[in-house]
Amino acid sequence: MAIFLRIAAGLFLLSQIGVSSGQEQARIARGKYLMEGVVACGNCHIARAENGVPVFSKGLSGGMVFDEPPFKAYAANITPDPETGIGKWTDAQLGKAIREGVRPDGSIIGPPMPIEFYRRMSDADLAAIIAYLRVQPPVKNVVRRSEYNIPLPPSYGPAVKGVSAPSPRETIKYGRYLADIGHCMECHTPRDERGGLVLTSLGAGGQVFKGPWGESVARNLTPHESGLKSWSKEEIAQAIRGTGKNGMHYKPPMAFDWYKNISGADMNALVAYLGSLRPQPFGGKE
Ligand code: HEC
Ligand code: HEC
Repeated sequence: MAIFLRIAAGLFLLSQIGVSSGQEQARIARGKYLMEGVVACGNCHIARAENGVPVFSKGLSGGMVFDEPPFKAYAANITPDPETGIGKWTDAQLGKAIREGVRPDGSIIGPPMPIEFYRRMSDADLAAIIAYLRVQPPVKNVVRRSEYNIPLPPSYGPAVKGVSAPSPRETIKYGRYLADIGHCMECHTPRDERGGLVLTSLGAGGQVFKGPWGESVARNLTPHESGLKSWSKEEIAQAIRGTGKNGMHYKPPMAFDWYKNISGADMNALVAYLGSLRPQPFGGKE
């Protein structure tokens, strides 16, 4: 009897593992689609070569250095290496770091990690991203501590729980959701003197990015004469994938190498959302 029970329990366990691994596979696949597409954590967390091109072979083992007057920030190693990465963090701890900007030791993650936008990430997509991070090869790489000359906020807001994404059938709302988790507006919104985003000018462009590519300026994404007003949907989609009118290639640091993997339906939603933005002059200034 005891043996029978044990076998039955064993079979039950096996079937549970079968079910959960199916769900786990789906979660990892969704995580891969997001991470290698619109979410593009790697745009910051993967190192870049001298010419500014991402070095994909190093994985998410620590990436860009952001040398700005208010801070010198180093994008952390987020591979599962237990010593130099996030290998020892639980799923809950990782979730709190991504959506709330709080590390397991209680310290605050500073800019330019786009926490304000990640607060809107759904529970399901957060779980998918964490599942993807867990199956990446661990890479040992010590990343320097960032230095901030500005006080970091005591927190980015209350704990984030129970978030669901809008239905993809609500095209504009879903497009906004994708723009949030794809942190488009972190770059395409002007900043004030203290480095804060001027959200009343959402999408108006104007931030300047210096790097090995020289200088690039985030464009106006609103449907204004100085923005995308006269552009076709196809032209906008092609620009998000990195190619402008006349076949010109845009400069970094926009995540073209990732955004080119965004599905047709998701791209359509993103473009519809941009068309719904309030028209604004470039940089939000007349
Ligand atoms: C715009 C650049 C940028 C993007 C995009 C970005 N990060 Fe970060 N991230 C950073 C920087 C810079 C730091 C270090 C901040 C600091 O030192 O306080 C960081 C820190 C972290 C940390 C803390 C790690 C540690 O050991 O302290 C985690 C976890 C993390 N990021 C995960 C993610 C994930 C997951 C994504 C995508 C969903 C992501 N990041 C997208 C720039 C970025
Ligand atoms: C890390 C910063 C950054 C992020 C994130 C980013 N962009 Fe950009 N984007 C730029 C810069 C800089 C340019 C201009 C590049 C150039 O001039 O070569 C640009 C150019 C564009 C253009 C071309 C517009 C024109 O007038 O030529 C479009 C469209 C665009 N971005 C849309 C998006 C969308 C949609 C997202 C999110 C899915 C996004 N961007 C995320 C920095 C960013």
